[in-house]
Amino acid sequence: MSENALQYLLNRQSVKFVRAPGPDERQLDLILRAAMCAPDHGRLRPWRFSLIRQEVMQEFVDKLFATAQASATPIPAQKEENARRWLQEVPLLIALACHRDHSVTKIPEHERMLAVGAAVTNMLNAAHMLGFGAFWSTGLGTYIDEVNEMLGFDPLDYRFMGFLAIGTPIDEVLPQTRPDYRQFVKEYRP
Ligand SMILES: Cc1cc2nc3c(=O)[nH]c(=O)nc-3n(C[C@H](O)[C@H](O)[C@H](O)COP(=O)(O)O)c2cc1C
Repeated sequence: MSENALQYLLNRQSVKFVRAPGPDERQLDLILRAAMCAPDHGRLRPWRFSLIRQEVMQEFVDKLFATAQASATPIPAQKEENARRWLQEVPLLIALACHRDHSVTKIPEHERMLAVGAAVTNMLNAAHMLGFGAFWSTGLGTYIDEVNEMLGFDPLDYRFMGFLAIGTPIDEVLPQTRPDYRQFVKEYRP
């Protein structure tokens, strides 16, 4: 393995504002295959993805906000306006969910959610390696049951985990300063 590949991990950063072109079918295939390589206790494959492509984006956005605004926890008008402006440009949104599979009792639910998180991280890294910008958001009504249902992820069977936006960065992506890992690491001494 090459240390050059590691450079991609070291310079990955989230890019929220993206536009077309998004990944083509071959690139999307690579991104989704990367998700399948995530660590996964019990090989439960708890990840579920729903692809929202640009051609249905406007219809999705209208339905999303109609559903959210009719719920007990509507989204503030300013937030809706900002989200609509953001999504207008996004060429691909992937809705993310964890299958709760009540028949499984051996692997705790938080471990399954971690597996989904790892799968999404693989997708973020794969998108970055292909030259795209990507951003994980739990805005957009992630915690509104009716929105989860609208996306086909009934909260009884799925834990909805937000959206991944993928596309071409609109603005120049400037290098980010990352924290010094020493702040978070100690030597264990028995
Ligand atoms: C599960 C999850 C949900 C997130 N939801 C949001 C969100 O709703 N809004 C937001 O501004 N950032 C959100 N973020 C943070 C961004 O995706 C991104 O990680 C953050 O801006 C830091 O950028 P970086 O990945 O380059 O360090 C979320 C991150 C994670 C892991």
